[in-house]
Amino acid sequence: MNTGPLGVAVVGAGVISAEYLRTLSTFPDIRLVAVADLLPERAAAAARAHGVPLAGDLPTVLDEPDVELIVNLTVPAAHAQVAAAALRAGKHVYGEKPFTPTPAEAEKLIAEASERGLLLGGAPDTFLGAGLQSALRAIRAGHIGVPVAATTVVQSLGPESWHPEPGFFYQPGAGPLFDLGPYYLTALVALFGSVARVAATAVRARERRTVGSGPWAGRTFPVDVPTHVSALLDFASGVSANSTFSFDSAHPRIRFEVTGTEGTLAVPDPNTFRGPLRLRANGSEEWRELPVTGRTDGRGLGVVDMARAVRAHEAQAGPAPAPAGHSVPAARPGHPVPAALPGHPVPARAAYDGPGGRAAHEDPTAGAARTAQGSPPGQAAANRASAALACHVLATMTAITQSAATGTFVPLSAQVVPPPPLPDDWDPTAATLTAG
Ligand SMILES: NC(=O)c1ccc[n+]([C@@H]2O[C@H](COP(=O)([O-])OP(=O)(O)OC[C@H]3O[C@@H](n4cnc5c(N)ncnc54)[C@H](O)[C@@H]3O)[C@@H](O)[C@H]2O)c1
Repeated sequence: MNTGPLGVAVVGAGVISAEYLRTLSTFPDIRLVAVADLLPERAAAAARAHGVPLAGDLPTVLDEPDVELIVNLTVPAAHAQVAAAALRAGKHVYGEKPFTPTPAEAEKLIAEASERGLLLGGAPDTFLGAGLQSALRAIRAGHIGVPVAATTVVQSLGPESWHPEPGFFYQPGAGPLFDLGPYYLTALVALFGSVARVAATAVRARERRTVGSGPWAGRTFPVDVPTHVSALLDFASGVSANSTFSFDSAHPRIRFEVTGTEGTLAVPDPNTFRGPLRLRANGSEEWRELPVTGRTDGRGLGVVDMARAVRAHEAQAGPAPAPAGHSVPAARPGHPVPAALPGHPVPARAAYDGPGGRAAHEDPTAGAARTAQGSPPGQAAANRASAALACHVLATMTAITQSAATGTFVPLSAQVVPPPPLPDDWDPTAATLTAG
Protein backbone atom coordinates (compact mmCIF):
# COMPACT_ATOMS: atom_id res chain seq x y z
CA MET A 1 0.00 0.00 0.00
CA ASN A 2 1.28 3.47 -0.89
CA THR A 3 1.71 6.01 1.87
CA GLY A 4 2.88 9.62 2.09
CA PRO A 5 2.14 12.51 -0.23
CA LEU A 6 0.35 11.54 -3.45
CA GLY A 7 2.43 11.61 -6.67
CA VAL A 8 0.75 13.96 -9.15
CA ALA A 9 1.33 14.79 -12.82
CA VAL A 10 -0.15 17.80 -14.58
CA VAL A 11 -1.17 17.05 -18.17
CA GLY A 12 -1.65 20.16 -20.35
CA ALA A 13 0.85 22.94 -19.69
CA GLY A 14 -1.20 25.83 -21.04
CA VAL A 15 -2.54 29.03 -19.47
CA ILE A 16 -4.22 27.55 -16.38
CA SER A 17 -1.41 25.12 -15.53
CA ALA A 18 0.61 27.93 -13.90
CA GLU A 19 -2.06 28.46 -11.22
CA TYR A 20 -2.36 24.72 -10.51
CA LEU A 21 1.40 24.20 -10.37
CA ARG A 22 1.80 27.20 -8.05
CA THR A 23 -0.99 26.09 -5.70
CA LEU A 24 -0.21 22.37 -5.69
CA SER A 25 3.47 23.15 -4.90
CA THR A 26 2.33 24.57 -1.55
CA PHE A 27 0.45 21.45 -0.40
CA PRO A 28 2.63 18.92 1.49
CA ASP A 29 0.11 16.14 0.75
CA ILE A 30 0.90 16.51 -2.97
CA ARG A 31 4.19 15.56 -4.58
CA LEU A 32 4.45 17.06 -8.07
CA VAL A 33 6.23 14.43 -10.14
CA ALA A 34 5.73 15.34 -13.81
CA VAL A 35 4.29 17.72 -16.40
CA ALA A 36 3.09 16.53 -19.83
CA ASP A 37 1.95 18.32 -22.97
CA LEU A 38 1.56 17.60 -26.68
CA LEU A 39 4.25 20.28 -27.05
CA PRO A 40 7.30 18.92 -25.20
CA GLU A 41 8.95 22.34 -24.86
CA ARG A 42 5.84 23.64 -23.09
CA ALA A 43 5.89 20.76 -20.63
CA ALA A 44 9.63 21.24 -20.03
CA ALA A 45 9.28 25.01 -19.44
CA ALA A 46 6.42 24.50 -16.97
CA ALA A 47 8.32 21.75 -15.13
CA ARG A 48 11.44 23.95 -14.91
CA ALA A 49 9.47 26.96 -13.67
CA HIS A 50 7.96 24.96 -10.79
CA GLY A 51 10.83 22.59 -9.95
CA VAL A 52 8.99 19.46 -11.19
CA PRO A 53 11.49 16.64 -11.93
CA LEU A 54 9.97 15.03 -15.06
CA ALA A 55 8.54 16.46 -18.30
CA GLY A 56 7.40 14.75 -21.48
CA ASP A 57 4.40 13.57 -23.43
CA LEU A 58 1.37 11.76 -22.02
CA PRO A 59 2.71 8.18 -22.52
CA THR A 60 5.97 9.08 -20.74
CA VAL A 61 4.10 10.43 -17.75
CA LEU A 62 1.65 7.52 -17.64
CA ASP A 63 4.59 5.07 -17.63
CA GLU A 64 6.02 6.71 -14.51
CA PRO A 65 5.15 4.57 -11.46
CA ASP A 66 5.50 7.53 -9.06
CA VAL A 67 2.59 9.25 -10.81
CA GLU A 68 -0.57 8.19 -8.97
CA LEU A 69 -2.98 10.96 -10.03
CA ILE A 70 -3.29 12.94 -13.26
CA VAL A 71 -4.53 16.54 -13.21
CA ASN A 72 -6.00 16.88 -16.69
CA LEU A 73 -5.64 20.49 -17.89
CA THR A 74 -5.89 19.81 -21.61
CA VAL A 75 -8.41 21.51 -23.89
CA PRO A 76 -12.04 20.32 -23.47
CA ALA A 77 -11.98 18.18 -26.64
CA ALA A 78 -9.11 16.10 -25.20
CA HIS A 79 -10.48 15.69 -21.65
CA ALA A 80 -12.23 12.33 -22.14
CA GLN A 81 -9.46 10.71 -24.16
CA VAL A 82 -6.69 11.79 -21.75
CA ALA A 83 -8.74 10.70 -18.71
CA ALA A 84 -9.48 7.30 -20.27
CA ALA A 85 -5.78 6.73 -21.05
CA ALA A 86 -4.85 7.68 -17.48
CA LEU A 87 -7.44 5.31 -15.96
CA ARG A 88 -6.21 2.49 -18.19
CA ALA A 89 -2.70 3.18 -16.86
CA GLY A 90 -4.04 2.82 -13.30
CA LYS A 91 -3.96 6.52 -12.40
CA HIS A 92 -6.60 8.46 -10.47
CA VAL A 93 -7.83 11.47 -12.48
CA TYR A 94 -8.89 15.02 -11.64
CA GLY A 95 -10.09 16.88 -14.74
CA GLU A 96 -10.67 20.51 -15.63
CA LYS A 97 -14.13 21.59 -16.73
CA PRO A 98 -16.13 20.74 -18.61
CA PHE A 99 -15.35 17.23 -17.38
CA THR A 100 -16.14 15.67 -20.79
CA PRO A 101 -18.09 16.96 -23.79
CA THR A 102 -21.13 14.77 -22.97
CA PRO A 103 -22.62 13.15 -19.84
CA ALA A 104 -22.43 9.75 -21.56
CA GLU A 105 -18.64 10.05 -21.80
CA ALA A 106 -18.46 11.12 -18.14
CA GLU A 107 -20.60 8.15 -17.07
CA LYS A 108 -18.35 5.80 -19.02
CA LEU A 109 -15.29 7.17 -17.23
CA ILE A 110 -17.03 6.93 -13.85
CA ALA A 111 -17.89 3.27 -14.52
CA GLU A 112 -14.34 2.51 -15.64
CA ALA A 113 -12.82 4.24 -12.59
CA SER A 114 -15.15 2.35 -10.29
CA GLU A 115 -14.26 -1.00 -11.91
CA ARG A 116 -10.58 -0.25 -11.48
CA GLY A 117 -10.94 1.01 -7.90
CA LEU A 118 -9.72 4.48 -8.93
CA LEU A 119 -11.07 7.87 -7.88
CA LEU A 120 -12.24 10.48 -10.33
CA GLY A 121 -12.80 14.16 -9.69
CA GLY A 122 -13.25 17.37 -11.56
CA ALA A 123 -13.20 21.14 -11.53
CA PRO A 124 -14.42 23.57 -10.51
CA ASP A 125 -13.25 23.46 -6.91
CA THR A 126 -14.05 27.11 -6.28
CA PHE A 127 -17.01 25.96 -4.14
CA LEU A 128 -14.39 24.78 -1.61
CA GLY A 129 -13.08 28.34 -1.29
CA ALA A 130 -13.78 30.76 1.54
CA GLY A 131 -16.46 32.69 -0.38
CA LEU A 132 -18.82 29.86 -1.27
CA GLN A 133 -18.21 27.81 1.92
CA SER A 134 -19.09 30.97 3.92
CA ALA A 135 -22.22 31.39 1.80
CA LEU A 136 -23.16 27.76 2.48
CA ARG A 137 -22.60 28.29 6.23
CA ALA A 138 -24.68 31.51 6.18
CA ILE A 139 -27.57 29.75 4.46
CA ARG A 140 -27.40 26.75 6.78
CA ALA A 141 -27.29 29.13 9.77
CA GLY A 142 -30.63 30.53 8.63
CA HIS A 143 -29.50 34.08 7.73
CA ILE A 144 -31.97 34.24 4.83
CA GLY A 145 -34.56 31.88 6.28
CA VAL A 146 -35.59 29.16 3.86
CA PRO A 147 -33.96 29.59 0.43
CA VAL A 148 -36.49 30.23 -2.30
CA ALA A 149 -34.70 31.38 -5.46
CA ALA A 150 -31.35 32.30 -6.96
CA THR A 151 -30.30 34.63 -9.76
CA THR A 152 -26.95 34.27 -11.48
CA VAL A 153 -25.55 36.37 -14.32
CA VAL A 154 -22.17 36.15 -15.99
CA GLN A 155 -21.69 38.27 -19.09
CA SER A 156 -18.80 39.84 -20.99
CA LEU A 157 -17.51 40.08 -24.55
CA GLY A 158 -15.77 36.70 -24.20
CA PRO A 159 -12.23 35.50 -23.49
CA GLU A 160 -10.65 36.39 -26.87
CA SER A 161 -9.49 39.78 -25.54
CA TRP A 162 -7.00 38.09 -23.17
CA HIS A 163 -6.58 34.40 -24.14
CA PRO A 164 -3.90 33.91 -26.85
CA GLU A 165 -5.61 30.77 -28.29
CA PRO A 166 -9.34 31.41 -27.74
CA GLY A 167 -10.71 29.19 -30.54
CA PHE A 168 -11.64 26.33 -28.17
CA PHE A 169 -13.93 28.62 -26.16
CA TYR A 170 -16.29 28.69 -29.18
CA GLN A 171 -16.31 24.97 -29.97
CA PRO A 172 -18.63 22.29 -28.58
CA GLY A 173 -17.63 21.69 -24.95
CA ALA A 174 -17.21 25.42 -24.35
CA GLY A 175 -19.15 28.62 -25.10
CA PRO A 176 -20.32 30.65 -22.11
CA LEU A 177 -22.54 27.80 -20.88
CA PHE A 178 -19.97 24.99 -20.83
CA ASP A 179 -16.98 27.24 -20.04
CA LEU A 180 -18.44 29.42 -17.25
CA GLY A 181 -21.61 27.49 -16.45
CA PRO A 182 -19.71 24.92 -14.34
CA TYR A 183 -18.76 27.61 -11.77
CA TYR A 184 -22.33 28.86 -11.34
CA LEU A 185 -24.07 25.51 -11.61
CA THR A 186 -21.62 23.68 -9.32
CA ALA A 187 -22.08 26.43 -6.73
CA LEU A 188 -25.87 26.17 -7.07
CA VAL A 189 -25.78 22.37 -6.71
CA ALA A 190 -23.44 22.65 -3.69
CA LEU A 191 -25.94 25.08 -2.11
CA PHE A 192 -29.28 23.53 -3.14
CA GLY A 193 -28.63 19.96 -4.29
CA SER A 194 -29.75 18.29 -7.49
CA VAL A 195 -31.33 20.04 -10.44
CA ALA A 196 -34.70 18.46 -11.27
CA ARG A 197 -35.55 20.15 -14.58
CA VAL A 198 -34.52 23.07 -16.79
CA ALA A 199 -35.87 25.35 -19.50
CA ALA A 200 -33.71 27.61 -21.66
CA THR A 201 -33.21 29.78 -24.71
CA ALA A 202 -29.92 30.26 -26.56
CA VAL A 203 -28.62 32.45 -29.41
CA ARG A 204 -25.35 33.00 -31.29
CA ALA A 205 -24.56 36.66 -32.02
CA ARG A 206 -21.79 36.19 -34.64
CA GLU A 207 -20.47 33.37 -36.82
CA ARG A 208 -16.80 34.40 -36.51
CA ARG A 209 -14.79 36.18 -33.84
CA THR A 210 -11.31 37.73 -33.71
CA VAL A 211 -8.27 36.85 -31.57
CA GLY A 212 -7.52 39.94 -29.46
CA SER A 213 -4.05 39.27 -28.04
CA GLY A 214 -0.85 37.26 -28.51
CA PRO A 215 0.87 36.11 -31.71
CA TRP A 216 -2.41 35.41 -33.56
CA ALA A 217 -4.10 38.75 -32.73
CA GLY A 218 -6.33 39.86 -35.62
CA ARG A 219 -7.02 36.35 -36.96
CA THR A 220 -10.63 35.28 -37.06
CA PHE A 221 -12.01 31.90 -36.00
CA PRO A 222 -15.41 30.16 -36.23
CA VAL A 223 -18.11 30.23 -33.56
CA ASP A 224 -19.90 26.86 -33.36
CA VAL A 225 -21.83 27.26 -30.09
CA PRO A 226 -24.51 29.59 -28.67
CA THR A 227 -22.97 32.69 -27.12
CA HIS A 228 -25.92 33.91 -25.01
CA VAL A 229 -27.86 31.38 -22.92
CA SER A 230 -30.73 32.06 -20.50
CA ALA A 231 -31.84 29.19 -18.27
CA LEU A 232 -34.49 28.47 -15.65
CA LEU A 233 -33.70 25.72 -13.16
CA ASP A 234 -35.90 23.87 -10.68
CA PHE A 235 -33.97 22.12 -7.90
CA ALA A 236 -35.32 18.97 -6.25
CA SER A 237 -35.08 20.86 -2.92
CA GLY A 238 -37.73 23.30 -4.16
CA VAL A 239 -35.40 26.23 -4.91
CA SER A 240 -35.71 27.86 -8.34
CA ALA A 241 -32.97 29.73 -10.22
CA ASN A 242 -32.61 31.85 -13.31
CA SER A 243 -29.16 32.01 -14.88
CA THR A 244 -27.65 33.96 -17.78
CA PHE A 245 -24.36 33.00 -19.45
CA SER A 246 -23.15 35.37 -22.17
CA PHE A 247 -20.09 36.19 -24.26
CA ASP A 248 -22.05 38.88 -26.16
CA SER A 249 -22.33 41.75 -23.70
CA ALA A 250 -20.22 44.92 -23.71
CA HIS A 251 -21.19 45.28 -20.05
CA PRO A 252 -19.02 42.85 -18.05
CA ARG A 253 -21.10 41.77 -15.08
CA ILE A 254 -21.19 39.02 -12.48
CA ARG A 255 -24.12 38.55 -10.14
CA PHE A 256 -25.08 35.73 -7.80
CA GLU A 257 -27.94 36.33 -5.38
CA VAL A 258 -29.89 33.91 -3.23
CA THR A 259 -33.25 34.99 -1.90
CA GLY A 260 -34.84 33.35 1.10
CA THR A 261 -37.92 33.90 3.18
CA GLU A 262 -36.02 36.32 5.49
CA GLY A 263 -33.57 38.11 3.21
CA THR A 264 -31.23 38.07 0.21
CA LEU A 265 -27.61 36.97 0.16
CA ALA A 266 -25.18 38.45 -2.39
CA VAL A 267 -22.84 35.51 -3.01
CA PRO A 268 -19.28 36.11 -4.25
CA ASP A 269 -18.13 35.40 -7.82
CA PRO A 270 -18.08 31.56 -8.02
CA ASN A 271 -15.10 31.75 -10.38
CA THR A 272 -13.01 32.88 -7.37
CA PHE A 273 -12.22 31.54 -3.91
CA ARG A 274 -12.91 34.82 -2.07
CA GLY A 275 -15.66 37.09 -0.72
CA PRO A 276 -17.29 39.45 -0.23
CA LEU A 277 -20.50 38.00 1.15
CA ARG A 278 -23.33 40.43 1.87
CA LEU A 279 -26.76 40.07 3.43
CA ARG A 280 -29.81 42.27 3.07
CA ALA A 281 -32.52 41.31 5.52
CA ASN A 282 -36.18 41.73 4.56
CA GLY A 283 -37.23 45.31 5.32
CA SER A 284 -33.65 46.61 5.55
CA GLU A 285 -32.27 49.25 3.17
CA GLU A 286 -28.68 48.28 3.95
CA TRP A 287 -26.42 45.44 2.89
CA ARG A 288 -24.42 43.96 5.76
CA GLU A 289 -21.05 42.24 5.25
CA LEU A 290 -20.91 38.69 6.61
CA PRO A 291 -17.63 37.06 7.68
CA VAL A 292 -15.76 35.17 4.97
CA THR A 293 -13.51 32.47 6.39
CA GLY A 294 -11.79 29.55 4.75
CA ARG A 295 -9.25 28.94 2.01
CA THR A 296 -8.33 31.23 -0.86
CA ASP A 297 -5.30 29.26 -2.11
CA GLY A 298 -6.57 28.88 -5.68
CA ARG A 299 -7.27 26.03 -8.08
CA GLY A 300 -6.07 22.76 -6.62
CA LEU A 301 -8.11 22.62 -3.38
CA GLY A 302 -10.18 19.85 -4.95
CA VAL A 303 -7.00 17.97 -5.88
CA VAL A 304 -5.64 17.91 -2.32
CA ASP A 305 -9.07 16.88 -0.97
CA MET A 306 -9.05 14.09 -3.55
CA ALA A 307 -5.45 13.09 -2.72
CA ARG A 308 -6.47 12.58 0.91
CA ALA A 309 -9.52 10.60 -0.24
CA VAL A 310 -7.27 8.37 -2.37
CA ARG A 311 -5.07 7.52 0.63
CA ALA A 312 -8.13 7.00 2.86
CA HIS A 313 -9.62 4.77 0.20
CA GLU A 314 -6.38 2.75 -0.08
CA ALA A 315 -6.21 2.40 3.70
CA GLN A 316 -9.67 0.85 3.73
CA ALA A 317 -8.26 -2.14 1.85
CA GLY A 318 -11.73 -3.11 0.70
CA PRO A 319 -13.82 -2.54 -2.38
CA ALA A 320 -13.73 1.02 -3.70
CA PRO A 321 -16.27 3.17 -1.86
CA ALA A 322 -18.59 5.41 -3.81
CA PRO A 323 -17.12 8.92 -3.60
CA ALA A 324 -19.11 11.70 -1.93
CA GLY A 325 -21.30 13.29 -4.50
CA HIS A 326 -22.14 9.92 -6.05
CA SER A 327 -25.13 9.84 -8.37
CA VAL A 328 -28.39 8.41 -7.18
CA PRO A 329 -31.44 7.74 -9.29
CA ALA A 330 -34.05 10.48 -9.45
CA ALA A 331 -36.41 10.13 -6.50
CA ARG A 332 -39.43 9.34 -8.65
CA PRO A 333 -38.44 8.05 -12.06
CA GLY A 334 -40.82 9.43 -14.63
CA HIS A 335 -41.78 12.20 -12.20
CA PRO A 336 -38.54 14.13 -12.03
CA VAL A 337 -40.04 17.24 -10.48
CA PRO A 338 -40.70 16.50 -6.83
CA ALA A 339 -43.98 17.44 -5.20
CA ALA A 340 -42.36 20.38 -3.42
CA LEU A 341 -42.01 22.21 -6.72
CA PRO A 342 -44.12 24.91 -8.42
CA GLY A 343 -47.38 25.64 -6.76
CA HIS A 344 -46.22 23.68 -3.73
CA PRO A 345 -43.94 25.99 -1.77
CA VAL A 346 -41.10 24.43 0.15
CA PRO A 347 -42.44 23.20 3.47
CA ALA A 348 -41.87 25.60 6.38
CA ARG A 349 -38.68 24.69 8.20
CA ALA A 350 -37.05 26.09 11.29
CA ALA A 351 -33.62 26.25 9.67
CA TYR A 352 -32.23 25.20 6.35
CA ASP A 353 -30.22 22.04 6.76
CA GLY A 354 -28.40 22.08 3.47
CA PRO A 355 -29.50 20.48 0.24
CA GLY A 356 -31.27 17.26 1.03
CA GLY A 357 -30.89 17.77 4.77
CA ARG A 358 -28.07 16.63 7.00
CA ALA A 359 -28.32 13.00 5.96
CA ALA A 360 -27.33 13.98 2.44
CA HIS A 361 -23.97 15.04 3.80
CA GLU A 362 -23.16 11.72 5.31
CA ASP A 363 -20.27 10.48 3.32
CA PRO A 364 -19.99 6.83 2.30
CA THR A 365 -16.23 7.04 2.77
CA ALA A 366 -16.75 7.82 6.47
CA GLY A 367 -14.61 5.69 8.68
CA ALA A 368 -11.63 5.77 6.36
CA ALA A 369 -11.64 9.51 6.35
CA ARG A 370 -10.06 10.56 9.62
CA THR A 371 -6.84 12.52 9.09
CA ALA A 372 -4.10 13.96 11.23
CA GLN A 373 -6.20 17.11 11.47
CA GLY A 374 -8.68 15.31 13.67
CA SER A 375 -11.64 16.20 11.52
CA PRO A 376 -14.75 14.10 11.96
CA PRO A 377 -15.08 10.98 9.81
CA GLY A 378 -16.53 11.76 6.41
CA GLN A 379 -15.47 15.37 6.57
CA ALA A 380 -11.79 15.30 5.92
CA ALA A 381 -11.26 13.25 2.80
CA ALA A 382 -14.46 13.15 0.87
CA ASN A 383 -13.36 13.86 -2.73
CA ARG A 384 -15.87 16.71 -2.73
CA ALA A 385 -15.11 17.86 -6.27
CA SER A 386 -16.21 14.44 -7.48
CA ALA A 387 -16.80 13.25 -11.01
CA ALA A 388 -20.42 12.55 -10.08
CA LEU A 389 -20.90 16.21 -9.16
CA ALA A 390 -19.17 17.27 -12.39
CA CYS A 391 -21.37 14.80 -14.29
CA HIS A 392 -24.58 16.23 -12.79
CA VAL A 393 -23.48 19.72 -13.80
CA LEU A 394 -22.67 18.41 -17.28
CA ALA A 395 -26.08 16.76 -17.50
CA THR A 396 -27.66 20.07 -16.44
CA MET A 397 -25.78 21.99 -19.15
CA THR A 398 -26.72 19.36 -21.72
CA ALA A 399 -30.38 19.60 -20.65
CA ILE A 400 -30.18 23.40 -20.98
CA THR A 401 -28.85 23.01 -24.53
CA GLN A 402 -31.59 20.49 -25.34
CA SER A 403 -34.30 22.73 -23.89
CA ALA A 404 -33.09 25.68 -25.95
CA ALA A 405 -33.25 23.51 -29.07
CA THR A 406 -36.68 21.98 -28.38
CA GLY A 407 -38.48 24.77 -26.54
CA THR A 408 -39.57 22.43 -23.75
CA PHE A 409 -38.70 21.79 -20.10
CA VAL A 410 -36.11 19.01 -19.88
CA PRO A 411 -36.02 16.79 -16.77
CA LEU A 412 -32.79 15.49 -15.27
CA SER A 413 -32.86 11.71 -14.96
CA ALA A 414 -30.39 11.38 -12.06
CA GLN A 415 -29.77 13.22 -8.83
CA VAL A 416 -26.50 13.73 -7.01
CA VAL A 417 -25.60 13.76 -3.34
CA PRO A 418 -24.10 17.23 -2.85
CA PRO A 419 -20.61 17.50 -1.39
CA PRO A 420 -20.37 17.74 2.41
CA PRO A 421 -19.30 21.18 3.69
CA LEU A 422 -15.65 21.55 4.64
CA PRO A 423 -14.93 21.50 8.36
CA ASP A 424 -13.97 24.94 9.74
CA ASP A 425 -10.40 23.80 10.41
CA TRP A 426 -9.83 22.23 6.97
CA ASP A 427 -6.28 23.04 5.95
CA PRO A 428 -4.88 22.02 2.55
CA THR A 429 -1.39 23.10 3.67
CA ALA A 430 -1.35 20.64 6.59
CA ALA A 431 0.80 17.54 6.11
CA THR A 432 -1.72 14.79 6.81
CA LEU A 433 -0.28 12.05 4.59
CA THR A 434 2.86 10.80 6.19
CA ALA A 435 5.05 8.02 4.80
CA GLY A 436 5.13 4.85 6.84
N1 LIG B 1 -7.48 29.69 -19.00
C1 LIG B 1 -8.24 29.80 -17.91
O1 LIG B 1 -8.36 30.91 -17.31
C2 LIG B 1 -8.96 28.61 -17.36
C3 LIG B 1 -9.53 28.73 -16.11
C4 LIG B 1 -10.14 27.63 -15.54
C5 LIG B 1 -10.23 26.46 -16.24
N2 LIG B 1 -9.70 26.37 -17.49
C6 LIG B 1 -9.84 25.08 -18.19
O2 LIG B 1 -8.56 24.47 -18.22
C7 LIG B 1 -8.40 23.74 -19.45
C8 LIG B 1 -7.19 24.27 -20.17
O3 LIG B 1 -7.34 25.65 -20.40
P1 LIG B 1 -6.10 26.56 -20.82
O4 LIG B 1 -6.61 27.94 -20.88
O5 LIG B 1 -4.92 26.25 -19.94
O6 LIG B 1 -5.86 26.01 -22.30
P2 LIG B 1 -4.55 26.14 -23.19
O7 LIG B 1 -4.96 26.01 -24.61
O8 LIG B 1 -3.78 27.35 -22.77
O9 LIG B 1 -3.68 24.86 -22.75
C9 LIG B 1 -4.07 23.53 -23.02
C10 LIG B 1 -2.80 22.70 -23.15
O10 LIG B 1 -3.15 21.33 -23.29
C11 LIG B 1 -2.27 20.76 -24.26
N3 LIG B 1 -2.93 19.57 -24.80
C12 LIG B 1 -4.03 19.52 -25.59
N4 LIG B 1 -4.35 18.24 -25.86
C13 LIG B 1 -3.44 17.45 -25.22
C14 LIG B 1 -3.22 16.05 -25.10
N5 LIG B 1 -4.01 15.18 -25.73
N6 LIG B 1 -2.18 15.61 -24.34
C15 LIG B 1 -1.36 16.49 -23.72
N7 LIG B 1 -1.51 17.83 -23.79
C16 LIG B 1 -2.54 18.31 -24.53
C17 LIG B 1 -2.06 21.84 -25.28
O11 LIG B 1 -0.88 21.63 -26.05
C18 LIG B 1 -1.96 23.08 -24.38
O12 LIG B 1 -0.63 23.33 -23.96
C19 LIG B 1 -9.72 23.92 -20.21
O13 LIG B 1 -10.56 22.83 -19.94
C20 LIG B 1 -10.31 25.19 -19.62
O14 LIG B 1 -11.72 25.20 -19.67
C21 LIG B 1 -9.03 27.41 -18.05
